[in-house]
Amino acid sequence: MKAAIVLGTRPEIIKMSPLVRECAKRGAPYYILHTGQHYSHEMDRVFFDDLSLPEANYHLDVGSGTHGAQTAKILAGAEGVLMKDRPDIVLVQGDTNTVMAAALAASKLGIRIGHVEAGLRSHDRTMPEETNRVVADHISDQLYAPTEEARKNLAKEGIERGVYVTGNTIVDAVLENRKLAESRSRALENLGLKPREYVLATAHRQENVDSRERLANIIAALDAVGRETGLSVIFPAHPRTQARLQEFGLRPKVASVVQPFGFLDFLRMEAGARLLLTDSGGVQEEGCVLGVPCVTMRENTERPETVDVGANVLAGTDPERVMVAAWSMLNRRGGWKNPFGDGKAAARILDSAERGEGRFDNK
Ligand code: UD1
Ligand code: UDP
Repeated sequence: MKAAIVLGTRPEIIKMSPLVRECAKRGAPYYILHTGQHYSHEMDRVFFDDLSLPEANYHLDVGSGTHGAQTAKILAGAEGVLMKDRPDIVLVQGDTNTVMAAALAASKLGIRIGHVEAGLRSHDRTMPEETNRVVADHISDQLYAPTEEARKNLAKEGIERGVYVTGNTIVDAVLENRKLAESRSRALENLGLKPREYVLATAHRQENVDSRERLANIIAALDAVGRETGLSVIFPAHPRTQARLQEFGLRPKVASVVQPFGFLDFLRMEAGARLLLTDSGGVQEEGCVLGVPCVTMRENTERPETVDVGANVLAGTDPERVMVAAWSMLNRRGGWKNPFGDGKAAARILDSAERGEGRFDNK
């Protein structure tokens, strides 16, 4: 069985890395197709280095653009590669434009698709990611649901065959890299921070940062948390967010904006944080796995398991609500059950891919 492992953005590189490792360990044939949706050094290269990943075999170099233009470039580019080097299965991960477009290309070519992290739903169709998830799930042959909750979401949409509850590969990636992060990263020392004496914040969702009002609220919330708790607030800003901060003329007064971290630095920063403030999907999961409490600056989450176990609260972007949530979570520390699996998701996914039983009999 030859697999095409498709990735294009920061979280896909991180969450696909355990699958690359597992293929290499088994001697299973695979290739990496990088769409180039992310391309800046700190959003791309740094993760290949930190995670010791082999170079991508194919690179589409699509870059940034409107949703339609970017999706179209990935669709055409992925089709070209898949026609030339036809795999038995195309593995995509998550909910980005890369995922939806590559899955569509494979579907039209009659190639089997395996969707890693299938079945997540925010039930919020204003999020571009929700469209990507729904489309990818409905055309996939195998659906690797990270949790029972995700499996139930798929069942509600009539998708029952080909669904495997595997755990989330983020647990594999965290467990594989945690010790390395502790020994290699100097992030805390470089910023003059002590464990538990800072809050780590991220924000990049289109619906949050492309709105001047919501981004201004987020900045006010980070400043309020810094001012009222006396803790340092470190804000590694995604390039989309950096561009909007500049465009809207916004700048935190208390929180410190820094460049995005590589994975090892970010993992160490997360593990040492008193609290995470975020709108990221991956950061909600990692906090839950690492035992670090999280306040999510959104009204909904496709990771409700984190809220159910007590690791995360939803606060939207209103500074007062964020502040109340931050006080409620500040002194929590682990003690909850990790709902995302045991770190062996990649092995289960490859077992399923190799077994080959999927939804569509005629493929
Ligand atoms: C994308 C995904 C989102 C995911 C996020 C992970 C979609 C619809 N969105 O959002 O689900 O959570 O990646 O980080 O697929 N930019 C750079 N350098 C880069 C990449 C982006 O400067 O390497 C800037 C460009 O100004 C670009 C903007 O960031 O226009 C947004 O990039 P894009 O890939 O469109 O969306 P993300 O916000 O990164
Ligand atoms: N991350 C990182 N450096 C940073 C911020 C995030 O390495 O400065 C990692 C983080 O560990 C997580 C992933 O990026 O695994 C989350 O990506 P992002 O928030 O961009 O996207 P999402 O998970 O919301 O799709």
